Amino acid sequence: MAVIVNSKPQEIKPGELLIDTINRSGITIPQVCYHPQLGPIQTCDTCMVEIDGKLVRACGTHAVDGSKVETASPRAQAAQHEAFDRILANHLLYCTVCDNNNGDCTVHNTAVLLEIEHQKIAFKSKPFEVDSSNPFYRYDPQQCILCGRCVEACQNLQVNETLTIRWEDPHPRVLWDGGAPIGESSCVSCGHCVTVCPCNALMEKSILGQAGYFTGLPSGALKGMIDIVKGVEPEVGFNSIMQLSEAEAYMRESQIKRTKTVCTYCGVGCSFDIWTKDRQILKVEPLDGPANGVSTCIKGKFGWDYINSPDRLTKPLIREDDVFREATWDEALSLVARRFQEIKDVHGPDSLAFISSSKCTNEESYLMQKLARAVIGTNNMDNCSRYCQAPATIGLFRTVGYGGDSGSIKDIEQAGLVVIIGSNTAESHPVLATRVKRAHKLRGQKLIVSDLREHEMARRADVFLHPRPGTDLIWLSAVTRYIFDHGLADQSFIDKWVNKADEYRKSLEPFTLEMASERCGIPQETIIKVAHMIAEADSVCILWAMGVTQHVMGSDTSTAMSNLLLATGNYMRPGTGAYPLRGHNNVQGASDHGAMPNFFPGYQKVDDPAVRAKFEKAWKVTLPPKPGLDNHLMIDAIHDGRLKSMYVFGEEMSLVDSNASYVADALEKLDFFVMQEIFFTETCRFANVILPASPSLEKEGTFTSTERRIQRLYQAMEPLGDSRPDWQILIDIANRLGANWSYKHPSEIYEEIASLTPTMEGVTYERLEGFKSLQWPVAPDGSDQPLLYTQKFNTPDGKAAFFPLVWSEPSNQVDEEYDLHLNNGRLLEHFHEGNMTYRAEGIREKVPCTFVEVSPELASSRGIQTGTWVRLASRYGAVRAQAVVTTRVSGNELYMPMNSTLEPVNRLTSSCTDKVTHTPAYKETSVHLTVLSRDGKSPLPRTNPRYGHPTPQMGVEVERKWARSDYHLPGNGLVQIETRAAEAVRREK
Ligand code: SF4
Ligand code: SF4
Ligand code: SF4
Ligand code: FES
Repeated sequence: MAVIVNSKPQEIKPGELLIDTINRSGITIPQVCYHPQLGPIQTCDTCMVEIDGKLVRACGTHAVDGSKVETASPRAQAAQHEAFDRILANHLLYCTVCDNNNGDCTVHNTAVLLEIEHQKIAFKSKPFEVDSSNPFYRYDPQQCILCGRCVEACQNLQVNETLTIRWEDPHPRVLWDGGAPIGESSCVSCGHCVTVCPCNALMEKSILGQAGYFTGLPSGALKGMIDIVKGVEPEVGFNSIMQLSEAEAYMRESQIKRTKTVCTYCGVGCSFDIWTKDRQILKVEPLDGPANGVSTCIKGKFGWDYINSPDRLTKPLIREDDVFREATWDEALSLVARRFQEIKDVHGPDSLAFISSSKCTNEESYLMQKLARAVIGTNNMDNCSRYCQAPATIGLFRTVGYGGDSGSIKDIEQAGLVVIIGSNTAESHPVLATRVKRAHKLRGQKLIVSDLREHEMARRADVFLHPRPGTDLIWLSAVTRYIFDHGLADQSFIDKWVNKADEYRKSLEPFTLEMASERCGIPQETIIKVAHMIAEADSVCILWAMGVTQHVMGSDTSTAMSNLLLATGNYMRPGTGAYPLRGHNNVQGASDHGAMPNFFPGYQKVDDPAVRAKFEKAWKVTLPPKPGLDNHLMIDAIHDGRLKSMYVFGEEMSLVDSNASYVADALEKLDFFVMQEIFFTETCRFANVILPASPSLEKEGTFTSTERRIQRLYQAMEPLGDSRPDWQILIDIANRLGANWSYKHPSEIYEEIASLTPTMEGVTYERLEGFKSLQWPVAPDGSDQPLLYTQKFNTPDGKAAFFPLVWSEPSNQVDEEYDLHLNNGRLLEHFHEGNMTYRAEGIREKVPCTFVEVSPELASSRGIQTGTWVRLASRYGAVRAQAVVTTRVSGNELYMPMNSTLEPVNRLTSSCTDKVTHTPAYKETSVHLTVLSRDGKSPLPRTNPRYGHPTPQMGVEVERKWARSDYHLPGNGLVQIETRAAEAVRREK
């Protein structure tokens, strides 16, 4: 199929918008409101072209085979100019002194493209002030061209539904919650709106006055300059003024550096350019990240202040007489090497243990495990996946074979039904959640959520289950049994692809509807409804996180989900599969690259002689044959006196491990403890030597996100002070212990990884250049697997296997004394304990401290109000916090987010663990609550978005603009464009 564009044939793709066809042809037409990731908005009218003699908006029209398109006919040009004139009536062009004059301003570039000389409709000032009430960005209504991109992004991409334009107003403008100050609205500061704004109406505050050569002038001088330019403009025309501003924009390139990086917070793997001027961060600009497109959340877009925090460690520190003193690198490294060697010589290699960071790069995790195994001679090596994701990995190993998400975020987006279990996705994996919210809102994707809390995803769900704590395995198994019993299973898929079906069906016998309903507290009809929804959906993805894994049944419940997917044939196809949502930015990569007690990189077993022989040959050493201690066992081993020394980097172990007091007691007992960190964290207090490391912006390497996506990060700035990238410190220590490592760049480390790891064989830095990425396994020719199991499962016979399960009671249940269940987890604004996010001023402003969520019914029975100080005591410790009374929790269930270093929730959690992986049962905690003081303000300030009132609508609703009496279509003879509703009807037909 083809259209003729300006007399040249141009192939069209099925369902393609005409504007995309034209853009692919290399012909440039104006298109101010169109953004490919938002779809057609049709507010600006600048993209008008003639098709078969009729004027149409190219962004609102589908290309039809054989049509003749004229993009530059006199009628098309006149319409484009008229439309752009109307835009300039809303926008003062003062490009040379504009913060947005950085070469990528759509309004500026369109003025140049259309060779505008003079403005036909005069700019009219609007009766509104600039709104600067959000800590991260400001809105200038004077400059707003009402393109609606921000509204579309907020309503239909981020789906926070804060922004609207009331087209009927005499002076329409963008509204937050229908007219609230931004800082008091439901805006979650994700930055989507700012990112897509085509001009300077929405700007990051961090760049204001910083980007240009004149933008930093005092406002009086700036206004004077604008007046002068506007004064001469009628005479000299735009063209000469534009040339001046283009020269200024070009000059900016010498002082602004744009570096591609990958977010260092959660496991979604958002990538973007970060704009810096020396060490100053001007802005984060997501463009077309493979995982995120233009999307970010508050942390990735605005959470970077920690990089330049005055608290950064910049010199090595050595403890002497319980006081830390600064030391030289030579002194610190020599001490570390000498003490490691002495302890190894006296107590043996297994008296040392190593913990790698899930915040650091794949190359760094690889070097850490190589240091432990090849230099020290121990497999006592782990990373924080032990605290969260190890049970999910086991569930997948048992059933389908690979310990990673079975598809991509795109599969989740296109599924017919998404089931979310034990995951507060909108806050813990915000950008991934936007894809589910978007599909649910725009495409009718179905959503089932099972959780203790009625969080955002639960409120959006078609079915929300609130099972009793620790009983997910039961309802999942009852659903699976019902599906089998009622002939709803995908028998042909099972016959062809799944082993152990009979054994598994037998194991389901106890999971009757009656039993499940009674144990879980879920009505039988709901379980039946869920079973039908899952069995009848065309494709199902199950997403889960720590609400599942951090239980004594974490591995088994993860397995139950995979069993259910196998029973319904929901593997091996796009839009299906199992998605354990990885928490840290590189928790997947740390495990993939061997930071585990039982695996070399690529999950190659340390106790497999052939595997070991391969690594021994490559590393030219003899390697320990038995799996080592995991994080949990390391703490026990310190208490037992077997473990004498630890080396930990980038891990706040004393706060994030469960039963924090027990962990702290252990760390105090170590003979020699090395911490490598960017700040003096709580865990650093126990160290003998602290080595100052460099965060992601100061080094190169790769991260692997939740969808097994490997991405490169580039160095944006030099390491601060005397801090060093972790990989360099690891090399220095290894070499002082005689290793003779000679890596000069992380790419050389990756070459070695690829040579020893079948799943990474085809990974090279060249194949990951810029925004390119690979989803493992990667074949030698560089082909990767966004969707796993398209040919077979990763098992010896290529078939999956059902795994029979038995349910057992959770630990630490409520009793008379500890009568309340305490749940815990992340919060949108902070990452984990908050070591990085508390150092971002704007984030601290939105969420200054932790709190405990109390249900209205519990609050009323105990006389608690929002702001009341309470003491929570468990069988293991106690904390104080202020209450927030909310319907997000119900009955006798409390929720406390993790964001505190002073009152960490892990003082309350226990040392009970998942049987298989030793992942702590963080989510099985019972507490006693005492009211301390009823005075106190809300711990959440009024500016927190949780107080906002979103205004959902189906996007910009441009039809309301078209209905205004003062609106007419530019040009003559415009054919009415398809609206979204009309398009839906057409597609239906
Ligand atoms: S939530 Fe706030 S920052 Fe995000 S798109 Fe909406 S208005 Fe913009
Ligand atoms: S603020 Fe919104 S409507 Fe105004 S110009 Fe920017 S994206 Fe367009
Ligand atoms: S924290 Fe996660 S969702 Fe937010 S920007 Fe970073 S990677 Fe993306
Ligand atoms: S690009 Fe704005 S209407 Fe088409």
